[in-house]
Amino acid sequence: MSDKLDASGKTVVVTGAASGIGRCLARQLSDEGARLILADIDKAGLDAVAREIEAKGVDVIARQVDMADFAAVDAFAAEALDWANGSLVFVFANAGIHGITPAIDPDLDLFAKVTAVNLMGPVHMSKAFVPRLMKQGIPAQLVITGSQASFLAAPGIAPYVAAKHALWGFADSLRIELLMEQSPVGVSLVAPSRVDTAITRQRVGEYHAKGGDKAVEAYITSMVGPEPIAEVIIREAKKREFWIIPSHEPTLEVFKARADAVIHAMPAGEIKHG
Ligand SMILES: NC(=O)c1ccc[n+]([C@@H]2O[C@H](COP(=O)([O-])OP(=O)(O)OC[C@H]3O[C@@H](n4cnc5c(N)ncnc54)[C@H](O)[C@@H]3O)[C@@H](O)[C@H]2O)c1
Repeated sequence: MSDKLDASGKTVVVTGAASGIGRCLARQLSDEGARLILADIDKAGLDAVAREIEAKGVDVIARQVDMADFAAVDAFAAEALDWANGSLVFVFANAGIHGITPAIDPDLDLFAKVTAVNLMGPVHMSKAFVPRLMKQGIPAQLVITGSQASFLAAPGIAPYVAAKHALWGFADSLRIELLMEQSPVGVSLVAPSRVDTAITRQRVGEYHAKGGDKAVEAYITSMVGPEPIAEVIIREAKKREFWIIPSHEPTLEVFKARADAVIHAMPAGEIKHG
């Protein structure tokens, strides 16, 4: 995807802006001179971020929106496009939650909740924003926050892994359709890992509560703050890359092993014709 994007003087949407990576995206984009439309389910946290950004003299609106509720997301998108008045260039569909339950006997209510926010949230954002961005007619990028759990599995967080894997399938399908349409709208999939934010602290806390182990300690010491992660996301989103993988973690070999297992299985399952 060509046509490098710039946020300065343009309008940007960030969801999950009350905390963590989303809050850093909002802060850094406001420093670049973007007008901001922020959303989160946490009204108090969101208002605090909006006040902080407003104090810098930046135009910002903040709305309490539940990403699991399509009607609310759709109304938010209509308002955002109206407010942007032809200048909306980035939509960061970043909101997410954790989901700690084993694959062997998953908590089904938690599974449904994680799916509703982490998978259907970005799907809702895409359905609400992409057709409107296409109508707006200028180059723009939907940036979906997946995870390294979009391409790697991990124990104890089955709904999270399942939803984030499904996001890869959705985002890549969207990428292909937008290319076929020769649309000025593109899509990116962000795959962070081990970022020191509220949801990772929650996961680490729950593991500790269950007794903790060396793996948890290693996890904590390898975490990075959300600021450098947001910097990489913004830098790569401007280049309109599909994959944005802001990580220092050695996951390459694990991913290669998964890909090799699929490649190995392909000839073994081949059906002989004739
Ligand atoms: N922290 C990590 O290590 C890590 C790794 C990979 C992916 N991610 C992803 O990054 C994204 C941001 O997470 P974070 O690490 O900054 O965590 P965070 O908890 O600090 O921020 C998530 C934000 O999403 C909001 N949110 C939750 N449910 C919502 C809903 N239904 N509607 C609207 N907003 C909602 C929360 O209120 C919160 O402000 C998530 O999609 C997460 O899965 C994080």
